[in-house]
Order: sequence, then C-alpha cells, then structure tokens
Amino acid sequence: MGLNPYNAADFIQETAPGFRPRVGIILGSGLGGLADRIDVVASIEFKDIPDFPQSSVEGHAGRLILGRLGGMPIVCMQGRIHLYEGADPQDLAVPVRVLKLLGIEILLVTNAAGSFHKDVGPGRLMLITDHINMTARNPLVGDNDDRFGPRFFSMEDAYDPTLRDHFKAIAKEMKIELAEGVYLHYLGPNFETPAEINAFRILGADAVGMSTTPEVLVARHCGLKVAAISNITNLVAGLSETKLSHEQTLECAKLAAEDLEQLIIIFLETLKRELLKTHIKEDDNGNS
Ligand code: HPA
Repeated sequence: MGLNPYNAADFIQETAPGFRPRVGIILGSGLGGLADRIDVVASIEFKDIPDFPQSSVEGHAGRLILGRLGGMPIVCMQGRIHLYEGADPQDLAVPVRVLKLLGIEILLVTNAAGSFHKDVGPGRLMLITDHINMTARNPLVGDNDDRFGPRFFSMEDAYDPTLRDHFKAIAKEMKIELAEGVYLHYLGPNFETPAEINAFRILGADAVGMSTTPEVLVARHCGLKVAAISNITNLVAGLSETKLSHEQTLECAKLAAEDLEQLIIIFLETLKRELLKTHIKEDDNGNS
C-alpha cells in the first residue's frame, strides 16, 4: 500500500479545525518568501504529517502553511518532492490530493526554470500555457483512484484560460512583464545538454525545469483549476553565459521573486473580490 492522502488530510484538519483553504499554492525553488506574507493559521512540517512525502532538496523548506493571503484562505506548500529524488511517481499524487481533500478549487504552481528565449532572461516571469512531460513518468500510472477522478481525462486547457487571462490583466496593471509559453519538464537531476536543448526547442518548449507536471496532472485528474508561473532563473544550456548550478538557480530566483509574490497576492485579492461567484462557491460557515 502506498501513502494515503486521507490520513494526511485528516491530520491537517485536526491541526486547523474548521479552516477551509480555497486555493493551494506550491512554491518552487527560492520562492519561499511568499510564505512570510501569509497570515498563518497553522504551519506544519511535512515530516510531521502522516503519509506525506518528504523532499530532500536544499532551498525547499518542506512545510505546509495554512492561512490567509490577499484575504483568501489558502494552503501553501513550501517545497515539494521531485521525480529526480527517486520517489515513487505515485507518491507525487499525494500532496495535491491532500490539498483537494482540504477543500481547494484552484491550484497555483510556481517553479524555477530556464528560458529558451534571450529576450526572456533571468528575472522574468513566464505564465505557463501548456506543458510537455519529458520525464516518461506519471503519478497517475497504476490503478485509477476513482474517488479522485476518471481513468482517462483531457489535458486540453489544463492551464485554465480564464485564470491565465486574469494573471495577464493583473501583470499589465502592475507593469510586470509576463511572458507566456510552454514548460517542458526534464527529469534531471542534471541540467540539460545543449543537444537536448536543441531538440526541446524543436519540440516547442519555451522554458525547461524539473517539476510541476506531476502536480498539474494530478490536479487536472481531480478537477482542480490550475495556473502556473515559471520564475526564469537562467537561459537554457548553450544560451547561458554562466554555468548552470542549483546555487545559481537559487540566487537568480530572487530577481523576480518579489514580482511573483506581488502578482500572486493581487491575484488572490481580485479573485476574492471579482471571481468569487464564478470560481469559488461560498460555503455555509462564511469561510470564503
Ligand atoms: N533546466 C532545468 N531546470 C531548471 C533550469 C534549467 O535550465 N533552471 C532552473 N531549473
């Protein structure tokens, strides 16, 4: 038997009784700063949550935070596990399913990524329009868990067009340049070879990173709306003048971190104000 998301969700609900998050946020490498802006209701280390997978990567705190951000009840994963850590792909279904069980309807995913475009370099943000999963792994392979979703499901418009429009409008208003494009998930843990980068460019990639597609697959399977933004930390191998490293990723993640944090906070504020009726159903205890 694998990890049971119901055990994890029960434990979290006992830690924050009656609190229902409506939006889940997964923070990528070096983006932990957003966590400091949360009006915290409960903060739990992943390692203390039963049946919750652990990350071993430096720069990923491994903490689940429940609270309010931009006035919205949210749950934030500060850190995540990655396929390159050698985890059973099925374990990567657990965190998103736990967030779903806690009550979220929208999942916001962030990551650090390398850009294929010289004019979209370090310090820029890219709204993900679609993805290419080059890992040959998928958390949904194996018996389907019908409690969460159907065996077969569509990945068209996986990155919700309405949420994307919303992010674009906010970015424009805030004068933040927001690129758009296709994210390619490379298994890692090494960065790509220049030959691989050439191949991926032909395939249609605009940015490459080592995360995100497992969570998005699981989120779409269970009917969550998804938006995702890449924090561009470098130009891809072969285009980049600096040698790629995890330290470089963490350092350059800081460049656009503030923009991304602001974008997400304003997104949540306007979501609460304007899209409450279309995206989010009020619950009985006024916990909206
Ligand atoms: N490749 C893969 N993952 C990454 C990169 C990259 O260039 N930058 C940040 N994460």
